[in-house]
Amino acid sequence: SKETALSHLFFTYQGVPYPVTMCTSETFQALDTFEARSDDIVLASYPKCGSNWILHIVSELIFAISKKKYEYSEFPVLECGDAEKYQRMKQFPSPRILTTHLHYDKLPASIFKNKAKILVLFRNPKDTAASFFYFHNNVPDIPSYASWDEFFRQFMKGQVSWGSYFDFAISWNKHLDDENVKFILYEDLKEDLGAGVQQIADFFGFSLTGEKIQTISAQSTFQTMQEKSQETHGTVGPFLFRKGEVGDWKNLFSESQNQEMDEKFKECLAGTSLGEKLKY
Ligand code: A3P
Repeated sequence: SKETALSHLFFTYQGVPYPVTMCTSETFQALDTFEARSDDIVLASYPKCGSNWILHIVSELIFAISKKKYEYSEFPVLECGDAEKYQRMKQFPSPRILTTHLHYDKLPASIFKNKAKILVLFRNPKDTAASFFYFHNNVPDIPSYASWDEFFRQFMKGQVSWGSYFDFAISWNKHLDDENVKFILYEDLKEDLGAGVQQIADFFGFSLTGEKIQTISAQSTFQTMQEKSQETHGTVGPFLFRKGEVGDWKNLFSESQNQEMDEKFKECLAGTSLGEKLKY
């Protein structure tokens, strides 16, 4: 069946499934000894929460401060690629941007030891699941699911790339008030992008004029990024910048799926500050 076929596309490392096309155990082993710098910029999020959005914002902020275009000579996701990438990354000028979908406790220890700043981006689980499903089923080069119902089942079991949304959230939720950690919501960025860009700039210590913050915000709207997506992200661009809305899950979820996710959400996150803040 399609389900069995898809399970071969993951490999499990320390209890979490990762896509075999993007991650290897050799890379994970090499990552253990990765030397983070105190001025590394870590952007952590579960897949489809808007990682490319904040990556763009942070790159623009760095450009505004340093006049240096941030070059992605490596695939931006820290845990993806070949095991030698960390050797090559030693040559990269500061500040390096490290995007990751890893759980808090799976990050290399040097990130904490050297006190790199970590921005954690969350998005409500329903829109995240919807976005993840469309991504699989729209992008030609990656495996598609037989149906939304099938994807939903796997998502709820955590049998998708990078594992369970809820495990990711539980792991980060304990650390959102830690020193050097700041968390930000997709939904808040949508509501007031200018305020979000300002908060990100403040957190990383980038001092820019209000005018500059507004310019960067205008360059970071969904529409602007979608229009340039082919140029910036190649053929996958238009699939990556699909709709960019809050509440699109309503077009996919059945009432019972809605209830099932509400239950799971309560079980995992109710009563926590993250549980209070996630809006959808
Ligand atoms: P949708 O599929 O709901 O449209 P990631 O970059 O982590 O893979 O996340 C992709 C999701 O972020 C997509 O969601 C994409 O449209 C959305 N996104 C990307 N840039 C955005 C922006 N500037 N404004 C709002 N949403 C954005």
